[in-house]
Formats: sequence, structure tokens, C-alpha cells
Amino acid sequence: MDDYSEILQLAKETAKQAGDFVCGARTSEMIIEPKSRTDFVSDKDKTAEMLIRESIHKKFPKHLFFGEESVYGTSEEDEIKKIEEFRDEDYIWVVDPIDGTVNYIRDFPVFAISIAVIHHKEIVAGVVYDVYRDELFFAEKGAFKNGVPIHVSDAVLAADSIITTSMPNDLDVRKRITDIISKTAGLFQSMRIWNSAAISLVTTACGRSDADYEAGIHLWDIAAGVLIVKEAGGEITLINGEPYVHTASEVLAANRFNHKEIVSILNSAE
Ligand code: IPD
Repeated sequence: MDDYSEILQLAKETAKQAGDFVCGARTSEMIIEPKSRTDFVSDKDKTAEMLIRESIHKKFPKHLFFGEESVYGTSEEDEIKKIEEFRDEDYIWVVDPIDGTVNYIRDFPVFAISIAVIHHKEIVAGVVYDVYRDELFFAEKGAFKNGVPIHVSDAVLAADSIITTSMPNDLDVRKRITDIISKTAGLFQSMRIWNSAAISLVTTACGRSDADYEAGIHLWDIAAGVLIVKEAGGEITLINGEPYVHTASEVLAANRFNHKEIVSILNSAE
């Protein structure tokens, strides 16, 4: 059986270092470029990704790198093709240097460093570092927050569940999501819109919230969080309840009790 402890250790150290960098760098002048009218990137995202990449390649020069700022800009088809070309023997580091970039730029304290490793086409290690709260979530076997085991909530009913989501950057996807929100909001205990998929997933993993629904996302936004939710005892699927795939642009995280009802609620609103 493969041992990923060295990989996980490096992912944890690198996420912390990148977190310290972006936190310290927030006070210095920021160069912000638009990716679209609704989506932006800062020079801190780019530098953090470079630092993470260097740290990985120093220790594992043959491992592959799939980072937001390196891959973004290729077409959706190319991005999917790249993911479909992952080979069984490859170790692929999937990195979002700052998930929740707009929150970071605007100084909303909801962003994270997200690092996952794929091997045999499975996510085998995942780290999400919530910089503001200094909470390091990680998973290989079992899921932890600052070294303490975490578990999803045991909310049974949607009516007793707080569900998180994000406002997608793509305006067509956003329209769909806001329609779903307006039709379903009353069926949940409440909803939160965080705009950091990584933070939303670990929030569900540790039971602060009871489910998370993300659309218009990329592998780098969710890979680490997906493993952390699974290892915390949660369910991760597509919105229609089908099994999660790395090329998914939508995911639903929930616990094993409320998952089925939430799938049915979200799908009946489509
Ligand atoms: C964003 C977050 C957000 C999602 C956006 C992403 P980024 O990531 O994950 O939750 O709704 O689509 O772009 O760009 O800040 O790394």
C-alpha cells in the first residue's frame, strides 16, 4: 500500500508557508488584474502559486503540477482534456494558491490555500489552510483540523441544515444558482454564500455547516476539500447525486443522512 505521509507533510508545510506569505503580503501594494468582469487575480495569487510550485519541485521534481494560475486561461475543453490525461502512475499536485481571491482582495476573511495530490487518479492527500482562522484542515486517512479529528454534522433533515454555496463568476451559471436559491431557501434552516469553495467544503467537513453546493468550479477549487469531506464521513457527489468526477463543474457535499433529501430539493428546483 502506498504511503503518502511525506507528501501530506510537505503539503501541510507548504500551505502554511503560502498562507503566511499571502497574509503578510496583503498589506503591501496589490496588482489586480481582471480575468472577467466578475473574476480577478492578484499578483499575490501568482507569487503564492510560484512559491508552492517551487517547494513541491524541490522535493519531488518529477511530480506534475496543476495550479489555478498556470492552467486558467486555457479553454474549458483543454482543462477537461488535461484532467482526463492524468495517468495512473502520475502524482499530480492540484493547487489553488488563494481560493476566494476576491474575498482576499476585498479583505473579507474567507479565503484559503488549497493543495491536493492525485495518484492512481484518486485524491490521496488534501490540505486546506484557512489563513484568517489559522486552521489547517488536512486528510489522507481520516480528516483533521489542527491535528484534531473532525466529522461532518449529523443533521438529518434539510430543514435542520445550514447549506453553503458561492456566487459563480459565470453569469449564466450564476442565474441558475440564484434561481435555485430563491426556490429552495425556505426549505433549509438557512443558507450562507461564502465564495470560497475550499472554505465551504471544510466548513461542512467539520460540521459547522451541514451541506455545501458549488457550481461553476474547477478541480483546483475543490480537490483538497473533496477528500477532507469524504474522510470526515461526508458524501460528495454531483448535484444530481451521481458519483463525483475530477472534471465536475458542480459538487454537493453533505452528510449521509441529509444528502438524499438535498439532492432531491436541488434537482426539483432546476
Ligand atoms: C473561486 C471560489 C468560489 C467559486 C468561484 C471560484 P478563486 O475560486 O472557489 O467559491 O464560486 O467560481 O473562482 O478564483 O477565488 O480561486
